[in-house]
Amino acid sequence: MIGSVTTTRNGQKYRVHKRQLRKKLDVAELTAGMYVVELDIPWEESPFLFQGFLLENEQDIQTVQQYCRYVWVDVVEEDWVPLDETRQSLRKTRTRYVAKQDMARQLSEANRTYQATKMQVKQLFASAHLGQALNMKQAQVMVKDCVQRVISNPNAMLWLTRLKHQDEYTAEHSVNVSLLAISLGHHLDLAPYELENLGICGLMHDIGKMKVPDEILNKPGRLTAEEFEEMARHTTYARQMLMGRSDIYPGAVDVAWTHHERLDGSGYPRGIDSTKLSLFTRIVSVVDAYDAMTSDRVYKAGMSSLEAMKILNKNAGTQFDPEVVKKFIAMIGLYPPGYLLQMTNGEVGIILSADEGYHLKPRVIMILDKHKQPQPEQVINLATNPQDMDGIPYKPAGVFRSGNFGVNVSDYIERGLRIKGFEYSLND
Ligand SMILES: [Fe+2]
Repeated sequence: MIGSVTTTRNGQKYRVHKRQLRKKLDVAELTAGMYVVELDIPWEESPFLFQGFLLENEQDIQTVQQYCRYVWVDVVEEDWVPLDETRQSLRKTRTRYVAKQDMARQLSEANRTYQATKMQVKQLFASAHLGQALNMKQAQVMVKDCVQRVISNPNAMLWLTRLKHQDEYTAEHSVNVSLLAISLGHHLDLAPYELENLGICGLMHDIGKMKVPDEILNKPGRLTAEEFEEMARHTTYARQMLMGRSDIYPGAVDVAWTHHERLDGSGYPRGIDSTKLSLFTRIVSVVDAYDAMTSDRVYKAGMSSLEAMKILNKNAGTQFDPEVVKKFIAMIGLYPPGYLLQMTNGEVGIILSADEGYHLKPRVIMILDKHKQPQPEQVINLATNPQDMDGIPYKPAGVFRSGNFGVNVSDYIERGLRIKGFEYSLND
């Protein structure tokens, strides 16, 4: 399920439910603009560079027809249900083909949005630090763009939440919380306008930290009890800063004030319990905790995604909303995009994405050979059971954070992806 929207067509109101499906097609039915995700022959025996490509023209179609009899394409099926009970005869189903771009280009575009959003956050936070007026307009435009990107490619945006720089923690953490919240909201079938509101909540949740003295905010070590008390005040500071403003979604004030409250009343600043916590607060608390736990700080290394998910799970029901945690864990999966994956043969790759229904078989860019030496970068899709040079099927052995095997994922992605001669810089 991708989600549901309400729309009006010919004066009639409909609820449109969308589902993404993989459809088997005879190659005679192919048309330009379709995105082929699977062939009826092994990829290695085809002339196609990417496992998943767009049919751009007649020549592409003829090439596929030369090699295959059937292929699989992604489609979105829409169920149009009239909201007026008496007009059920107007109910209809439509099928649209999904035209996807390749992952490298999507990452490049997603990265542009990410960097622009980060810049906006820095400006907003700098104004807040100086006690100047906040200009919310640009931030809203950025969040809208982030929502569109999450809807069109959830994986590319998730990928970017892994690119962390210790010195930019506050800005990156805010963008990451916003993106993770939007992605989770999308998973929970929230409508796009709700995702935009949720994105603003994520972006602004820690703005109160700009009123916390720098020596406490950036202290490289454990805080004393008094310092912690001051740090905890970022929630009430945020409320004072944002309250009464007409240009910001009112829910963002509530989330900034309550994102450290816990279901059992053990949180701060007020120790309120579950009856007073909104869905947006519950979402932001979970993704905030996850991003904080998996980030490296000056005084401690971040934990792995799996460890962080275990902690969320352990505290589901007491601190965190159990339904939200469950959905979040299902979304991130065991193979989170942007992490390193070592195969049983010793080769190492970066996890790109896991397609719907294939959470245990992600797509991976292979980068190191079994001796941990660079190898020509190529994308493999574990869902299609690819084999290594020795004819042995690739099998995941373990997930590692960036920094292992001498691979820094951020350097790597900022340098540009090179896949079989195709080069896309993430900065162009
Ligand atoms: Fe916070």
